Amino acid sequence: MRFPHDFLFGAASAAYQVEGAWNEDGKGLSNWDVFSKIPGKTFEGTNGDVAVDHYHRYKEDIKLMAEMGLESYRFSISWPRIIPDGKGVINEKGIEFYNNVINECLKYGIVPFVTLYHWDMPQVLEEQGGWTNKATIDAFLKYATTCFERFGDRVKHWITFNETIVFCSLGYLAGAHPPGIKNDIKKYFQATHNVFTAHAKVVDQYKKMKQYGEIGITHVFSPAFSVDDKEENKIAAYHANQYGIAWYYDPILKGKYPEYVLKILKEKGYIPDWTEEELKIIESSASKNDFIGLNYYQPQRVVINKDQVNPTYKNREDATGAPGNISFDGFYKTVKMDDKRYTKWGWEISPEAFKDGLKMLKQEYGDIKIYITENGLGDEDPIIDGEIVDVPRIKYIEEHLKVLKDAISDGMNIKGYYAWSAIDLLSWLNGFKKQYGFIYVDHNDNLKRKKKLSFYWYKKVIEERGESI
Ligand code: BG6
Repeated sequence: MRFPHDFLFGAASAAYQVEGAWNEDGKGLSNWDVFSKIPGKTFEGTNGDVAVDHYHRYKEDIKLMAEMGLESYRFSISWPRIIPDGKGVINEKGIEFYNNVINECLKYGIVPFVTLYHWDMPQVLEEQGGWTNKATIDAFLKYATTCFERFGDRVKHWITFNETIVFCSLGYLAGAHPPGIKNDIKKYFQATHNVFTAHAKVVDQYKKMKQYGEIGITHVFSPAFSVDDKEENKIAAYHANQYGIAWYYDPILKGKYPEYVLKILKEKGYIPDWTEEELKIIESSASKNDFIGLNYYQPQRVVINKDQVNPTYKNREDATGAPGNISFDGFYKTVKMDDKRYTKWGWEISPEAFKDGLKMLKQEYGDIKIYITENGLGDEDPIIDGEIVDVPRIKYIEEHLKVLKDAISDGMNIKGYYAWSAIDLLSWLNGFKKQYGFIYVDHNDNLKRKKKLSFYWYKKVIEERGESI
């Protein structure tokens, strides 16, 4: 079987991780420009000042993507490049850059799939409370509207937010992303609610503008499974999925928050400060949302936590995604299991859990339209005789594409796959060492680009529409 003709084979990136040019052509300061320079926050102090210099090399990069046969490129727009102070004047140079990127994609027939918020916000807004401040919702609506006005004639696929759970939990619970706040559960839930409200308002606005494209959100998809059949661990997994999936997916797809979580938040006094009007717009926007984007890397294996200790987030590594942590509310723990496979960074490799997770999703949310907006292997790629022989990445992507093929055969409405990442880029907390790309970037040789083995492999997959997978 081949993947359907309208299924998009793509790859992804995010502005802060590739662009560089952090202070060029009128770009405003972002929260990440500031945060990454605080000692100890990132691996070896790496930051996105230069990243992989995509800002100056986008033509070369997109040409390579075209050569790979990429059908779609998912990238994000840097908000402070468009509206440097978050609310005021539009930076025409920023508009010009993204016009160039979009036009360059279209020149090769590559479909641009654009994320509006992949974590870099104008620093001014962060200083005023970021996502805990409701004024940020309106600022975001203005920014999104500007993007629709300026790029919407050519961009027909929009993602509002990338992984709300990550920037809110690492921002307000683990303190590992901006604004670097630890253990503030109240702020964490407030930020998530404000983001859902912003999403709903932007979806509504997009539909009003009648641009006849599609709009959705991208969430982490990290389904939790009990390590065994013990009732208490099954409860732990249910709890983890309520907080990690239902809290995020329900407001978008069902238009309301999950009762299980609401009840606990009420008891503990963590209900966000919300208005009837906000709840209403969340409710009414659910039917206008066109798709859900899933970023799947790994599942969670969980056990109940009996130690009665809340997480402490001692160091950066505690926040980099490997199992071995206590949940923010102390209810369960994620664990590493002897019979599972793991990456060098301790992330589980499990196409099986991907398959089971997709089934869970279908059961819960029905026949929603899905794009896999990220999936890939973070590795230190082997170099043999000057060639980048990233066989483990090929294997990883192949196994996950196979799951998608089966899911589509079973009737799931999955419309595209975006490998993370198109090109090697900056990992927020793990520097440049953790590579994901099809295109290698040589940090010892003027950021020279080189095709990896996976580049040729993915090209072939796309050419034959995955027939041999
Ligand atoms: C996702 C993000 O969470 O994971 C990406 O959307 C990120 O921006 C990717 O790079 C991989 O994470 P990491 O920590 O391995 O770089």
